[in-house]
Amino acid sequence: MVKVAVLVSGGGTNLQALIDAQAAGKLGTGKISLVLSSSAKAYALTRAENAKIPSVVVRRRDFESAQEYDHAIVTALQEHGIQLVVLAGFLSILGTEVIDAYRDRIINIHPSLIPSFCGDGFYGLKVHEAALAYGVKVTGATVHLVNEITDGGSILLQKAVAVQEGDTPETLQRRVMEQAEWELLPRATAMLCEQIEQ
Ligand code: GAR
Repeated sequence: MVKVAVLVSGGGTNLQALIDAQAAGKLGTGKISLVLSSSAKAYALTRAENAKIPSVVVRRRDFESAQEYDHAIVTALQEHGIQLVVLAGFLSILGTEVIDAYRDRIINIHPSLIPSFCGDGFYGLKVHEAALAYGVKVTGATVHLVNEITDGGSILLQKAVAVQEGDTPETLQRRVMEQAEWELLPRATAMLCEQIEQ
């Protein structure tokens, strides 16, 4: 069994996809053992509670420095014996202590085909707004390893999704989630868990 933490900040539909995958036996040896949220108001916390998964809120504003915040995240992860960290709409920046403690053991889902529409400032709906403004006909989602560069770690999985005539950022976001994100993230998590177990 590989203990997985899911880090969230918002609605948590990707967390839900992971919970559903686990219930369907599609998370391999992975077991979601902690949900860590950067916001006390995140609906993802309700999803964790419904699935009886322990959760913790670690907010940047409760710490004086980024280093202390980072340390609090590592402490929470280690207290729960976490082996793999999955960023699922986690909108806070992880510092070097977390990245070093979990080198090659942190994955992130990003709602575009990296290297398009990624890096600092590209998150959530902003990514889809940028894709529509540029006029691309194909977008998608990427799961990648997390390193010190925003959205810069090795790519693990990608899936393309067609942009449709009349798309708004909201309709495009929904299609990318349904057709790519909710499938890729559980698949990448299961893949990494298998590697860790070996
Ligand atoms: C998802 O679309 C995810 O790819 C994106 O935020 C959304 C969170 O939705 N993440 C990023 O933009 C990271 N750069 P969710 O809370 O419903 O899973």
